[in-house]
Amino acid sequence: MKPDQLSQTAAFVAIKFYGLSRIEEFQSLFDESIVSFYDQLSRSLPSPLRYYHYWLKFRWVRRLYIWSEELLLPGDLLHIVARKWYIQRMATQLVEDGYEQLIVLGAGFDHLAFYFSQQDLSCYEFDAPHMASMKQQFFKNSYPNEKHPNIIPTHLPEDSLETEFRTHPEIDPEKKTIIVAEGFFDYLKPETVEGSLKQTKKYFTHNPVLISTHFALNELSAFYRWVFRSSVNLVNEQLQFGSSIEEFRQLLSKAEFEVSQLHDAHEISTEIKKRTGTNLPVLSGFYVLLAH
Ligand SMILES: C[S@@+](CC[C@H](N)C(=O)[O-])C[C@H]1O[C@@H](n2cnc3c(N)ncnc32)[C@H](O)[C@@H]1O
Repeated sequence: MKPDQLSQTAAFVAIKFYGLSRIEEFQSLFDESIVSFYDQLSRSLPSPLRYYHYWLKFRWVRRLYIWSEELLLPGDLLHIVARKWYIQRMATQLVEDGYEQLIVLGAGFDHLAFYFSQQDLSCYEFDAPHMASMKQQFFKNSYPNEKHPNIIPTHLPEDSLETEFRTHPEIDPEKKTIIVAEGFFDYLKPETVEGSLKQTKKYFTHNPVLISTHFALNELSAFYRWVFRSSVNLVNEQLQFGSSIEEFRQLLSKAEFEVSQLHDAHEISTEIKKRTGTNLPVLSGFYVLLAH
């Protein structure tokens, strides 16, 4: 991923969420403001990405889209709703428990930092320079009168989190801090992930908490693994992390993060089925975790 490119993987997370949130069962999992955020966001994307906003309003188009996605990579669609739902609830719980600062790494077109900015939390988003400026523009145009998160252009590993934290003294090392890495570490080499986590742990004095997703590609069949990698390569991005869940846990532990919650695809699928009645699967090898 180059610093000056639009991340299509990030755009498709927003588009897929928008499409699925047209369906009442999934919409009911989220606040109205979140559903509206992705509506506005997908409408504001440059063309041709913006055309999805129009076409996904039609039930028959959504059906066709779901059918083709399930054929290529079963569970990819629902895992988007699932990760937004899990992360939203985990972050809300932490804020209720007294966490005062939120940092979203590789924020893409995500809503979380904007959502908690409205609750007067100090919120920061990090992303590659082009994405950071697109997001800034989106907030200016679509939410001119609301509070915006502070967006910090950063491209890893050329930039380092340590330097960015230090050059932005408004990021308070003393505050109880939530770090979110949703669909982000997958695009970095293991040594960059480890270094970034160590720098984060060192900077914040009050034991920061990490919410992260993880894709254990080894749990997918060779064919689906190939589909996953190829679809990312096709949009000029690259999956570089590629660790099993055990390897990720070991890396977290080297950076002194201990996993306290680990939700796997089976558990997530059961939970979301219970709430929505959906028959869609959740991508095998997908995890959401919380670590201190
Ligand atoms: C799959 S998207 C996820 C976006 C968002 N977290 C979400 O889940 O909706 C990955 C994000 O990581 C960012 N990213 C990828 N490689 C990066 C790098 N080397 N440095 C900084 N950001 C990067 C991309 O710009 C993109 O926004």
